[in-house]
Amino acid sequence: MNRGPLIFLGIFLALAFSWTGIVLTNQIQYGSLTPYYDANEGKAYPDKPSGLAERGRLVYQDLGCLYCHSQQVRRPGFGGDTERGWGDRQSVARDYVYEKRVFLGTMRTGPDLRNIGARQPSVDWHFLHLFDPQLTSPGSIMAPFRFLFEYRQVIGERSPKALKLPVDYARSHGWDRSGYELVPTPRAEGLVAYLLSLKDTYEFPEAKPYVPPKQEVGSK
Ligand code: HEC
Repeated sequence: MNRGPLIFLGIFLALAFSWTGIVLTNQIQYGSLTPYYDANEGKAYPDKPSGLAERGRLVYQDLGCLYCHSQQVRRPGFGGDTERGWGDRQSVARDYVYEKRVFLGTMRTGPDLRNIGARQPSVDWHFLHLFDPQLTSPGSIMAPFRFLFEYRQVIGERSPKALKLPVDYARSHGWDRSGYELVPTPRAEGLVAYLLSLKDTYEFPEAKPYVPPKQEVGSK
């Protein structure tokens, strides 16, 4: 008896079912996600990243920040992300609607960066940290990204963006030549704009901030 058609049908159905389950349903669920329009505020969330931040995303990808940093806040009960202050709520699919390539990451050698824009909004802090993490976070094992800055002669006035290195540090590391300044390159500016754009603080209907359970008075 020729079992060919039956075997073909079996294989076809197995593949069709798995494709429907793994590819098609996800595409239908997530592919149709749109930003959420808040009628009270008259604007949609999440915010669309600026052009500079979009360029910074490429620098983030290029420099491999992903290898040490994740970008996903886990829901309470699945780790201590909210207790660590990495976010007020879990990350949801809608947070990523504008991102063609999502940098969820798998390693957490450093802190999760999904809300770094809300946690650390200071541009100066980020420039110093990228220049030498020891400046802001003594003992850090993050690599310095000094090549994102240019040590150049001051022509005319000093740049308002020039790094404000602590005097002792600049002297002991030889960055204190008079008439010279350290300025962030366009890549550094993009990268920091990107980091500051990372803030998932808006309350989507599907993502409420975490409220810790109330402790009863007198209970242990
Ligand atoms: C070798 C692993 C490693 C790599 C690669 C790395 N980092 Fe880090 N990062 C860390 C560690 C560890 C910390 C925590 C200590 C500190 O603040 O420096 C950190 C901290 C940070 C913080 C501060 C987080 C906070 O909650 O205060 C930012 C912002 C950051 N990194 C951005 C970056 C960017 C941008 C890149 C890529 C250019 C990058 N990191 C690459 C390990 C890494």
